[in-house]
Amino acid sequence: MIRKLSVLCCFSLLLGCSQNSENVNTGETLQSGPKPVVDANARPLADSAQAEAPAVGPMQNRDGAPVDPQMMLNKAFFMQHFVAALYSKPTNQNPNPKWTSPLKDAQSGQVVCGDCHTKADMSRLPIQESSPAIEKLHANKEFMVDLMTKWVARLNSGEFGAKMKLKGEVTCTTCHATDPRQ
Ligand code: HEC
Ligand code: HEC
Repeated sequence: MIRKLSVLCCFSLLLGCSQNSENVNTGETLQSGPKPVVDANARPLADSAQAEAPAVGPMQNRDGAPVDPQMMLNKAFFMQHFVAALYSKPTNQNPNPKWTSPLKDAQSGQVVCGDCHTKADMSRLPIQESSPAIEKLHANKEFMVDLMTKWVARLNSGEFGAKMKLKGEVTCTTCHATDPRQ
């Protein structure tokens, strides 16, 4: 059943992430972190894709390559958990047992999507639920390390609004018990 779903999802992701499809281990993906709280106002995905469309333009990314909307939503899942891990216990597999919020003010000084996404209003994307496709990405270490490295770099970059909300520099081991790259 899971396998069947994965194949389907893999198929639907092929357009967007063929570079990731070979490097996946489904066996270890079944237990995931706690699910995010469901947003009562969450709209159907089609809706959100429409809401995003004007902001991101004609479905192309910065390099002019076509954007796969499903891949974007899958990344939104990880982004939402990453941002949540700045103020609540991280949902990664081996969280830092001594995790404390790296924010100066974890209640009213939270990092928001708009700190880094200045063109598209990513905060309008509904809270994403996990899916077999997302579990596959989660198990793809190369994919996750690449994403997380970009996010941590931008978090610590003075060019974006998140840095001034931090107590100090954020590193992989702010949230992970050990550096996942090692
Ligand atoms: C600390 C900076 C930062 C914050 C905060 C942030 N993002 Fe991102 N986000 C990035 C970067 C950098 C990328 C590009 C990563 C990539 O796709 O390679 C990205 C990519 C994405 C993508 C994929 C876009 C695409 O074109 O494929 C989505 C969707 C997204 N973010 C949603 C969100 C949402 C929703 C929030 C708020 C919950 C958020 N982001 C907060 C830095 C951030
Ligand atoms: C702000 C907290 C935070 C920081 C900092 C962070 N991560 Fe993560 N990481 C997460 C969360 C949350 C997830 C799990 C997303 C989910 O719920 O599926 C994750 C998942 C991962 C995974 C998938 C396996 C797992 O443990 O769940 C890898 C690999 C990973 N991160 C690598 C890195 C690397 C490399 C860095 C440093 C460049 C980094 N992370 C920094 C929060 C963080």
